[in-house]
Amino acid sequence: MKKQYPVYLVGAGPGDPDLLTVKAQRLIESIDVVVYDKLVSQPILALFPSYVKHIFAGKQASNHYMPQPEINNLLVTLFKQGRKVMRLKGGDPFVFGRGGEEALHLAKHGIPFEVVPGITSSAGCAAYAGIPLTHRDFAHGVRFVTGHMKESSGLGLNWESMADPDTTLVIYMGVGNVSEISARLINAGLSPYTPAAVINHGTRDNQKVITTTLTNLPSNVISENLTGPTLMIIGRVVELNRYLAWFSKVPKNNSPFVTD
Ligand SMILES: C[S@@+](CC[C@H](N)C(=O)[O-])C[C@H]1O[C@@H](n2cnc3c(N)ncnc32)[C@H](O)[C@@H]1O
Repeated sequence: MKKQYPVYLVGAGPGDPDLLTVKAQRLIESIDVVVYDKLVSQPILALFPSYVKHIFAGKQASNHYMPQPEINNLLVTLFKQGRKVMRLKGGDPFVFGRGGEEALHLAKHGIPFEVVPGITSSAGCAAYAGIPLTHRDFAHGVRFVTGHMKESSGLGLNWESMADPDTTLVIYMGVGNVSEISARLINAGLSPYTPAAVINHGTRDNQKVITTTLTNLPSNVISENLTGPTLMIIGRVVELNRYLAWFSKVPKNNSPFVTD
């Protein structure tokens, strides 16, 4: 009888293929179908052997995604066909990645699955931007927040609890709501001069880092007209970028694993 494999819910990390886990890399070389979304970078997709069937679960240009129930059902169907399936997501599958929803769907159908964590974009972007998320002199904690809610529910965040100068805030998917985020945090008591960073295409060759203040964050984000994945970091640790921004100085295409 043919061996049946679990469905692998895998985190691809923020984009630099050298940030894949060893397990993700080994699975890439052994699966036969990958269902991936738009955050998965091209250099990572290029690692798959040519016989692997690629199924794209989202369209960036039209902002049209395969609806979540369709993705859930697709995973079930591929498993039932006896395929060795990887569901590949940007960052970590369990951090704002709907990995929980997909795992629950598989569990509900009695389908075995494994979760392979990835480097979440906050960790990857912060490291490559030279912004330690915590530092004993600047921040005692870090908080990951979504800047985008399910349609029509608004940004139902607890602004008072977020306006803590000793906690670093990392905002995922917040670019579209940057004016509201900045204004609400200031109204809740966070200093308008709190350092803030915007990281676009973090860990990738085209990474862009803008440092500013909480009050100037909206005008900076809007004037840059950023496209592609973008993360915001708010907190005093951002000041360290001035001393620690190493990635912008590294020659690109300079992976330590490529020999001359
Ligand atoms: C749907 S969430 C997925 C998060 C993902 N599961 C993770 O752990 O990073 C998408 C958001 O992640 C952030 N993001 C992901 N990759 C990024 C990157 N390379 N650079 C900047 N932000 C990124 C952006 O805020 C983007 O809007």
